[in-house]
Amino acid sequence: MGFWGNKSVVVALGGGIAAYKTLELIRLLREQGAMIHPVATTSALQFVTPLTLQALAGHPVYQDLFSPLAADAMDHIRLAQQADLLIIAPATANRLAKMATGMADDLLSAMVLARRKPILLAPAMNMAMWQHPATQRNVLQLQADGLHLVGPESGALACGDHGVGRMAEATQIVEAARRLLSPQTWLGERLLITAGPTREDLDPVRYLSNRSSGRMGWAIATAALRAGAAVTLIHGPVAMAPPWGAEAVAVESAQEMYEAALHHWDQWTRSGEPLSAAILTAAVADYRPASRKTSKIKKEANSGLQLNLAQNPDILAALSARAADLAQNNRRRPLVVGFAAETGAGVAAEETLLATAKEKLLRKGCDLLLLNDVLATGCGFGSPTNQVTLLHRSGQHEVWPLLDKEEIGERLMQRLLSH
Ligand code: PMT
Repeated sequence: MGFWGNKSVVVALGGGIAAYKTLELIRLLREQGAMIHPVATTSALQFVTPLTLQALAGHPVYQDLFSPLAADAMDHIRLAQQADLLIIAPATANRLAKMATGMADDLLSAMVLARRKPILLAPAMNMAMWQHPATQRNVLQLQADGLHLVGPESGALACGDHGVGRMAEATQIVEAARRLLSPQTWLGERLLITAGPTREDLDPVRYLSNRSSGRMGWAIATAALRAGAAVTLIHGPVAMAPPWGAEAVAVESAQEMYEAALHHWDQWTRSGEPLSAAILTAAVADYRPASRKTSKIKKEANSGLQLNLAQNPDILAALSARAADLAQNNRRRPLVVGFAAETGAGVAAEETLLATAKEKLLRKGCDLLLLNDVLATGCGFGSPTNQVTLLHRSGQHEVWPLLDKEEIGERLMQRLLSH
């Protein structure tokens, strides 16, 4: 059963045009296994129909506190008390004001007052309304009362303005909801993660690169963020937007990734807020063209092309050396975790891969190394799944089964806690 499989969520709609996005939110949560109970205020039903909500949620829509249809109003209140999460999307300026003052003049506000479990608000309104001191006062009050917010985002608004006030996208609300319900085992900790490929320019139109999609690093960053960690994700060119909430640093070449990683490591080592771990999933080019041509290399008739390559600096080895220095000076040292992308086939090859990975761990000096055979089915580059073997510096290793990369991220975060 996935994360949402045993969760019940009350999704309540306030009266705003963004209500159409809440339909997608309900669809996504239900698709992932959550049990959804929709609630709509009278004004929300000016924008979406009860039939649509019921069809998407698979449950009837709770509306007015005193309507004959809601004869069992106390049951609805109980439902709101017991559900794992109450999401209010869109949360209008009027709804925020009602909640901040503790009013209970409709079903939704009564539910909010009766609830002692998490409430997530996704505000949506015109920019001027959002920026109004009264709204900002109400938001502060609601946060002080323990309610959580996702968004609003900046962008084109329904009124034609451009600015802050757009309701967060459905995927972002689902992610915020998941973080809210996840154990915050990494709260207050900080991670550095590298991900994706690097690009080594040959000339202005060509480069050397590899097949990394960034998915492995994204999955670990997502798991860390869900567990409450602050994440800096240094990544090469990938097709995905960074996970919501990560500090993303986009680079191209191995040299740029090296400089960015060392810069962030040193910055935190000097600050009073040191890193807890560095996890290097990036497929960093070992070599780059010794010189980058300033104009396109021309094809010459009947001749091949010799490339002269120079070695790139090794980020994993450099961070491991820095960690060792900290330990020597009796300072708190982050854990350094690498990956090993190897290619093999068959059982005989497994032993060889393991031996190669053990040698790599010792040579680069990291604490842990995750070995993956990138030619194995369902593994490696671009795949949503992977099969890894976790090697410890002590010489022990654990073979993990084929898992979603997200599950590998979760397992790794748990292992690091107990390391
Ligand atoms: O991004 P995906 O499509 O999801 O694919 C995931 C992955 C296959 C890229 C990932 O699981 C993986 O194996 N990453 C490591 C790729 C790699 O470069 O392996 P390596 O064995 O060549 O390097 C060993 C370690 O040294 C890695 O942690 C690497 O980040 C690091 N390294 C390598 C070279 C270099 N110059 N600097 C480094 O820090």
